[in-house]
Amino acid sequence: MHQQQLPFALDFPSEFQREYVAFVQQVRNVQALMTEVERFVLEHNKPELARFLQRYLPIPQLYLEQVQSQLGETDISALGGVERAAAQQALLALNSSTIVGELEQFSIDLRNWAEQAFEDEDAAHHHLDEAIQLRWQIIAHSIFYTIILGIIISLYTSRAIATPIQNLTHVARRVTQESNFELQAEVKTQDEVGVLAVSLNQLIQRVNALLKEQKAEQATRLLENEKMSSLGQMLAGVAHEINNPVNFIYGNLIHADEYIRDLLEILELYQEKVPDPPSEIRDRTEELEIEFLIEDLPNLVNSMQVGADRVRQIVLSLKNFSRLDDTEPHPVNVQECIESTLLILNNRIKKGIQIACQYGNTPPIPGYTGLLYQVFMNIISNAIDALLELPESRDKQIKITTECQQPEWLVIRIADNGMGISPENQAKIYDAFFTTKPRGVGTGLGLAISYQIIVEKHNGKLTCDSQVDEGTEFTIFLPLHPTAENVSPATPANYSTC
Ligand SMILES: Nc1ncnc2c1ncn2[C@@H]1O[C@H](COP(=O)(O)OP(=O)(O)O)[C@@H](O)[C@H]1O
Ligand SMILES: [Mg+2]
Repeated sequence: MHQQQLPFALDFPSEFQREYVAFVQQVRNVQALMTEVERFVLEHNKPELARFLQRYLPIPQLYLEQVQSQLGETDISALGGVERAAAQQALLALNSSTIVGELEQFSIDLRNWAEQAFEDEDAAHHHLDEAIQLRWQIIAHSIFYTIILGIIISLYTSRAIATPIQNLTHVARRVTQESNFELQAEVKTQDEVGVLAVSLNQLIQRVNALLKEQKAEQATRLLENEKMSSLGQMLAGVAHEINNPVNFIYGNLIHADEYIRDLLEILELYQEKVPDPPSEIRDRTEELEIEFLIEDLPNLVNSMQVGADRVRQIVLSLKNFSRLDDTEPHPVNVQECIESTLLILNNRIKKGIQIACQYGNTPPIPGYTGLLYQVFMNIISNAIDALLELPESRDKQIKITTECQQPEWLVIRIADNGMGISPENQAKIYDAFFTTKPRGVGTGLGLAISYQIIVEKHNGKLTCDSQVDEGTEFTIFLPLHPTAENVSPATPANYSTC
C-alpha cells in the first residue's frame, strides 16, 4: 500500500495524482483478489479462511473511503501551502487510526497465510512425489505379480488340459499299434476333453463291432467257399467217374448199332432165301414177334444213343461247372456256358416255365469258365425261384439274350416275368447274406458272389432292372478283349471281334 507515500507526494501535485491513482487501483486489485478467494472458500468449504475473510473483507474499502474523505473534493494542484499542510496532517493522522492498524494486521495475517500456504504446497509436493513413487511401486509390483500369476495359471491350465489329452493320445496310439479294440479311454470330466474321450470310446467300440461283423462274414464266406470247393471237387469226381462208363456205352453203342443192322440184314436174307422154314422156327418167330422186333430195334438203339449223348453232355457240363483249373483266364464260350447251365437246371425248369434263348453274335471272351457258370447258375436259379412263387395259372418265362456291343462288351440279359424286387431291396441285393428266402433255402450269397466275379474278376458290369409284379432283368457286361485286370500278359490273344 502506498498510503504512507501519499502525504509526502502532496508537495508534488502531478506525482501525487499518479500515486493516488495507483493507490486506488491497488485497493481495487486487493478487493478483486479477496472476492476471488471468497468464491474459492465458498466452493471448498475452508472455515478458517472464511473467518479470515469475514474479518478483513470490508477493510480495504473502508480504508479507501477514509482516505477519500480526508482528501475531500479538493483539487490538489489548486491547494495553497497551508491547506496542503493540513491535508498532509490529516493523511498522517490516518496512519495511526484503527483502520490502518487493521490493515497492517491484515497484511501480517496475509503473510502468515502465504507462508503457511507455501509450506503446505511444499508438503503437498513432497506428498505428491511420494505418491508418484508409490504409484510406480504399485505398478511394478502389480506387473510382477500378474506375470507370476499368469505363469502359474497357464502352467495349471496346460496341465489340466494337456494331461487328459495326452492320456487320450496314448489310448488312441495303443489301439492302433496293438490293434486292441477292447481298450477304452478313461472319462474323468464332462468338458470338451471328456466329450472327446466318450467319442473316442464310441469310435473304438464301433470299429470293434464292425471288425467282429467282418470276421463273422469272412468266416461264413470261407465256410461257404470251402463247401463250394468240396462240392465242386465231389462233382468233378462224380463227373469223371460217370464219364468213363458213359463214353464206354456211347462208344460201344455205335458198334452195337452196326452189329444189330448186320444181324437184321442176315435175318432178312434168311427170310428171303428160306421162305418156308421148319415149323419150330416159324412158331418161335411168331412167339417173339420178330416183325415188331425188327422194326423197333433200330429205334431202341437210336434212343439209347440219344440218352447216352445227353448223359455225356450233362457230365461235360458238370465238369465245366466244377472246373478247378480256372487259375488263368482263357477264351470262354458264353453260349455253351448258358446251355450247360440250363441243362444242369433242367429238372427245376419243368414246372410250367418256358425258357427262350436268343443268341446274337457271341464270340469267346477272356474269362474263367467255372466262375461264369456260377454266375449264370445263380442268376437263372433266382429267376426260377421268382417264377415258382407265382400262382400256377400265371405264364412263366425266362428270356436269355446275348449280343455284341462293339467295341467293348458282350452283353447277356437274363429276364424273368416274376414278382420283381422292391426298390428298397434293390439297393441290398448285392450285399452278402441279404436274402428274402426262407432259412435254409436262400444264403444271400448268390448275387454278392456273382457281382464279385463279374466286376472284380472279369472287369465287367452287372446291373439289375426290376419292376414289382412285372419282372426282373439282370444284365451282364463282359469285356470282349483282355484287360489288365482280367487277363495275364501270358494269355494267348485268340479272341475275335463281333
Ligand atoms: N430274379 C429275381 N426276382 C426277384 N427277386 C430276386 C431275383 N434275383 C434276386 N432276387 C432277390 O435278391 C435276393 C438275393 O439273392 P441272392 O444273393 O441270390 O441270394 P438268395 O438267392 O440265396 O436269396 C433274393 O433273396 C431275392 O429277394
Ligand atoms: Mg440266389
